[in-house]
Amino acid sequence: MSNTYKSTGSFNYGDLSEIEKDIEDSGLDIKLSHNLDLFKTKRKIDDFIIPNSIASLPMEGGDASEDGKPTELTFRKYERIARGGVGLIWLEAVSVSKEGKSNDKQLWITEENWTDFKKLNDLIKSSAKQEFGEDHNPLTILQLNHSGRYCKVKGKRKPIIATHKKLLDDKLGISKDYHLVTDEYLREVEEDFLQAARLAKKAGFNSVDIKSCHGYLLAELLSAYERGGKYGGKFENRIKLLVDIIDRIREDEYCKGLILSSRLNIYDAVPYPQGWGVNKSSLNPDLNEPKELIKILEDKGVKLISLTMGNPYFIPHINKPYDIGTYTPDESALESCNRLIKGIGEIQKSFPKIHIVGVGYSWFRHMAPYVGAGSLENGLCNIIGFGREGLAYPDFAKDILNDGKMKKNRVCISCSKCSEMKSKIGTCGCVIRDSEVYLPIYNDMKKGEIVKDA
Ligand SMILES: Cc1cc2nc3c(=O)[nH]c(=O)nc-3n(C[C@H](O)[C@H](O)[C@H](O)COP(=O)(O)O)c2cc1C
Ligand code: SF4
Repeated sequence: MSNTYKSTGSFNYGDLSEIEKDIEDSGLDIKLSHNLDLFKTKRKIDDFIIPNSIASLPMEGGDASEDGKPTELTFRKYERIARGGVGLIWLEAVSVSKEGKSNDKQLWITEENWTDFKKLNDLIKSSAKQEFGEDHNPLTILQLNHSGRYCKVKGKRKPIIATHKKLLDDKLGISKDYHLVTDEYLREVEEDFLQAARLAKKAGFNSVDIKSCHGYLLAELLSAYERGGKYGGKFENRIKLLVDIIDRIREDEYCKGLILSSRLNIYDAVPYPQGWGVNKSSLNPDLNEPKELIKILEDKGVKLISLTMGNPYFIPHINKPYDIGTYTPDESALESCNRLIKGIGEIQKSFPKIHIVGVGYSWFRHMAPYVGAGSLENGLCNIIGFGREGLAYPDFAKDILNDGKMKKNRVCISCSKCSEMKSKIGTCGCVIRDSEVYLPIYNDMKKGEIVKDA
């Protein structure tokens, strides 16, 4: 891709026309529109009406108690988001099992604590209603996950892997002879997802997400080309666990009424045969298999999918374009956003009946509404998803819908501090815009590092 105008990692646009020029000069395909009323479009899934076309995306906060319950910080985060006006609240990754947790402070839904999750869902619903009236009912989705190779227990990595992937193994110090989980174990994981979905239903969530992205266990299986047995090798085997879980939940009487959804990678950005959605002879996306899978999911009644790319533990900028990170990407953040928006657009156009939630907008700061409206206007997704923005500026949706703009002094500045916290201590939030709560936690983390280094 050519790089003729300001295409550095940093966001330094004075106004929209400068973004427009950069998009054009760089030969990118990001669409802009001033029709912000498009965000007011309601979306219908079965009997549920999503009140607008803005979603908050899952942001794992590492703020649960040791037994997986939401804590004061969790309740605070979701109350703020609910009062912010988004039509869809896609809650963060919740573990389906003890050993499947990404860290000791990850949410984990169990028979013992599902009522705490009910309190969380009730708080979201009541706060949204208090703020916007009885008719405002945001769709709530609990993201169910098994962290696979990124499991941690008592601060130590305890990878659970289904296949070796040299590039990812090397990063985690996984040796060539590290054991793979058995097919029997994967059957048990299917059971864990079903149990968690039943509890999510009891707790009142409208939907469960069978998470298959960002390198976690189900996503890893999608590219388990080199695994033997029932879950590896050919396409049907690699998608088997995801599809079996969807079937089990769909057919289960305790889950009746739950909307089925998935957060799905369409491109791993890890070379074949270690990555999914990747061209066999280059690192470019190849969306053929992801499309085949989405067709199967559609036939099974899945009507809502949040698409994403990359692996935050491997090449983070693919997944969340940033200004400041742990390395300088070999492309501009604008190009990274373009890959997300364009790739997701290709899928939405191929599956017009599915509500696709898009990503790649937070980096555009206060100009994001025009980029999101451009995507809606051009049918590149039905719902615009924001991740980091939800932490930085939880009432951004209200400002877009009511005032037709986002406030420049409140937006996420893509500084990666929340990601740094997530990877080092699990607990994370916006250090910049929610500094009263998260700056002290960040500073303590930094002090700990200095002590360790001494
Ligand atoms: C701190 C942090 C935590 C995240 N946690 C999750 C998660 O629990 N589940 C998930 O699917 N994605 C997670 N993501 C990815 C976001 O949902 C989103 O895809 C990403 O931040 C890009 O969107 P944005 O540019 O709007 O921030 C996380 C990202 C960050 C920075
Ligand atoms: S810490 Fe705040 S400003 Fe920085 S990337 Fe995270 S959400 Fe954005």
